[in-house]
Amino acid sequence: MSELTNEIQRRRTFAIISHPDAGKTTLTEKLLLFGGAIHVAGAVKSNKIKKTATSDWMEIEKQRGISVATSVMGFDYDDYKINILDTPGHQDFAEDTYRTLTAVDSVIIVVDIAKGVEAQTRKLMEVCRMRKTPVMIFVNKMDRDGQDPFDLLDELEQELKIHVRPLSWPIEMGVKFKGVYNIYEQKLDLYTPSKQTITESVQIKDISSPELEKQIGDDLAKKLRADLELIEGVYPTFDVATYLKGDLAPVFFGSALNNFGVKELLDCFVRIAPSPRVVVAEERAVDPEKDPFSGFVFKIHANMDPNHRSCIAFLKICSGKFERNANYKHVRFDKMMKFSQATAFMAQKKETVDEAYAGDIIGLPDTGNFKIGDTLTSGESLHFKGLPSFSPEMFKYIENADPMKAKQLNKGIDQLMDEGVAQLFVNQFNGRKIIGTVGQLQFEVIQYRLLHEYGAQCKWEPIHLYKACWIESDAPEALENFKKRKYQYMALDKQGRDVFLADSAYVLQMAQQDFPDIRFHFSSEF
Ligand code: G4P
Repeated sequence: MSELTNEIQRRRTFAIISHPDAGKTTLTEKLLLFGGAIHVAGAVKSNKIKKTATSDWMEIEKQRGISVATSVMGFDYDDYKINILDTPGHQDFAEDTYRTLTAVDSVIIVVDIAKGVEAQTRKLMEVCRMRKTPVMIFVNKMDRDGQDPFDLLDELEQELKIHVRPLSWPIEMGVKFKGVYNIYEQKLDLYTPSKQTITESVQIKDISSPELEKQIGDDLAKKLRADLELIEGVYPTFDVATYLKGDLAPVFFGSALNNFGVKELLDCFVRIAPSPRVVVAEERAVDPEKDPFSGFVFKIHANMDPNHRSCIAFLKICSGKFERNANYKHVRFDKMMKFSQATAFMAQKKETVDEAYAGDIIGLPDTGNFKIGDTLTSGESLHFKGLPSFSPEMFKYIENADPMKAKQLNKGIDQLMDEGVAQLFVNQFNGRKIIGTVGQLQFEVIQYRLLHEYGAQCKWEPIHLYKACWIESDAPEALENFKKRKYQYMALDKQGRDVFLADSAYVLQMAQQDFPDIRFHFSSEF
């Protein structure tokens, strides 16, 4: 095996997703401890925005500083190179999370045993399903009382619309929690509530062995055997290929806070989770191991220091090897560029990188050259697909509140949109700019950042909209006709694509009915 192949195959790039409070930060921290990336608990502050923060955008500004360091956490574990991509916990930043999911090769979902599948997890799973991302599930907080595990498995299947297969099984829960039987490794992992670092395990390959009674007593042994028999009967045998296709999610049970079941999850994860996969560009499929360097920008972290326009563009390497000071093509500019200061993210420290491989994320210092979705290659003109914008949930007109600063305002809006903070639509009827976001918080962030980073003042004016739909049609005259009939509600997005602004579900439904030749899309990629 060549060095390049070996480097790429040992990479595991993934994100942990969950509803806030299910335990994502705690699990991340424990994984970092196993990787030796940190040495004390509590070292990961993450870009978690506390519950009180409905309008606490100052807090977000502070968090932005922290979150660069935790955006990507790389470390070595056994023979593997692990890259964990952090995702914002706050739902108003869901769009950020969607984009991060385009840069991962697999996902671990954390679910709270008591709360089960919650809204945000459901939404994020939809993105995984669209992309066929392999998913593993960690059921957390087994030291607390919660749902019956079989009921939870049913819920996972129904709510996440994916087949599941337990690879560990809990013995009691809450104060009575005894541990899990690790089906994958055929051993009994015993729980002691002490934030343990090493789990006490007993190998029990044959579940009928009397060793089980010795460890957990007659009643629990009997129940465990019955449960396992039921699992074997009801759930499909675990098959790695089906998991890799995104059709089957293995499930583990544990307690992140008590560091129980985490190492087992990690050990199974590194073994079965995919290394970087083939990525489909508009032109062709790109093979991580066979093709020369290519990658795309999935996140931009801008203006950390308002005095310098310093950005970091986060690039996921899709194929080959990145080398410092080599010449790479910025496809949108059709221009060759060199990068001497790219950073790698190892153990929460940024350091200049000499080389990086497919699967890795690198940070490119930027002064406005990059937009989300930009591609860098060794020379070929490739455009990677799969960075959709979704129809925003909230809309407002943005107006200039300081006529002397119109230029600054436009520049600010432009750059914030390139960074992916929100979406801009320009109404073709009155020329007014409409900002679409996922949550109220983003309007406040935009206003604050326009003032502090660009010296521009904006004000918001209400507009009542239900959805923004990207429209297309095979019949040009039908499209023209539609645009003429709906001229007051037509807008262009930042890429100049036609967008229909529907002000109610009813209007949208009628439009779909009356114009059968028009296709209405709720994400920008179709
Ligand atoms: P998040 O990133 O998904 O939002 O969740 P986070 O890890 O911050 O965990 C949310 C809360 O749940 C934290 O408590 C955390 O300590 C707790 N927690 C995580 N894993 C477990 C577990 O296995 N068992 C139990 N019992 N609790 C767990 P908190 O009080 O909100 O925060 P903190 O003050 O302890 O940081």
